[in-house]
Amino acid sequence: MRVLFIGGPGAGKGTQSARMADFFGLTHLSSGDLLRKHVAEGTPLGQRVKDFMDRGDLVPDQIVMDMLRKPVLAASKTGGYILDGFPRTAEQAAAAYLVASELGVEVQVAVHLRVDDRVLVERLMGRGRGADDNDRTVIEHRIEVYNKQTTPLVEYYAVREELITIDGGRSVDEVSWDLVSALQSRSVALAARAAQPS
Ligand code: AP5
Repeated sequence: MRVLFIGGPGAGKGTQSARMADFFGLTHLSSGDLLRKHVAEGTPLGQRVKDFMDRGDLVPDQIVMDMLRKPVLAASKTGGYILDGFPRTAEQAAAAYLVASELGVEVQVAVHLRVDDRVLVERLMGRGRGADDNDRTVIEHRIEVYNKQTTPLVEYYAVREELITIDGGRSVDEVSWDLVSALQSRSVALAARAAQPS
C-alpha cells in the first residue's frame, strides 16, 4: 500500500506514520526527518536548506523531489511506503504524480489529519525539537505556510477519491485506532481491485 499524510505542523504525522508503518509493514519516509539529517550532518544539501527550515519556510520543491526519488522507488519495491510531509504544495503533488504514475508507484491513499491551529501551537511549544520549534513566531509562521500552501492538497486528493480524513485532535491511541481501521479497509479494497481480471 502507498500512503501519504497531510496535516499541519504538530498534527501527529510523524507519530502516526511511524505506528502505521510498523503495523502495515510499510517504509516510513519523512521529508522533514531526511532534511534534518542532512542539516545535522552538514551535507551540501543540508547547508542549502537550513535557513529555510529555521525560518519555518518550505525548502525549494526540486531539492525535496530529488532527495525523495530513490527512497520512494526502493520502498515501492518492498511493500509500499508512508510519505510523511510530502507533497507539501500542489506543484510537488503534480510533479510527483507524473513521475510516480510512469513507474506505477503512485499514491493510493491520502490521509488528512485535521487538528485546530491552537492545539498545534500548544503541542509544538511543548516539544522544542530545534530552531523551528523554539520560537512561537516561527511555529505560527509554519502553520500559516501550511494553511496557505498545503491545505489545497486536501481538495486535490478528495477529487481523486483517495482521501481519508481523521480527527487528529484526540489522544494518540484514539487516532491510531481510527487509522488502522480506515487503512485496513482501504488495503482490502485495493487487494480486491488488484485481483480483478483486467
Ligand atoms: P516536518 O518535519 O514535516 O515538520 P511539520 O510538518 O512542521 O510537522 P512536525 O514534524 O513538527 O509535526 P508532525 O505532524 O509530524 O507531528 P508529530 O508526530 O511530530 O517539516 C519541517 C520543515 O522541513 C518544514 O518547515 C520545511 O522547511 C521542510 N520540509 C519538510 N518537508 C517538506 C516538503 N515536502 N517541501 C518543502 N519543505 C519541506 O507530533 C508533534 C508533537 O505533538 C510531538 O511532541 C508529539 O508527541 C505530539 N503529539 C502527536 N500526536 C499527539 C496527540 N494525538 N495528542 C497529543 N500530542 C500529540
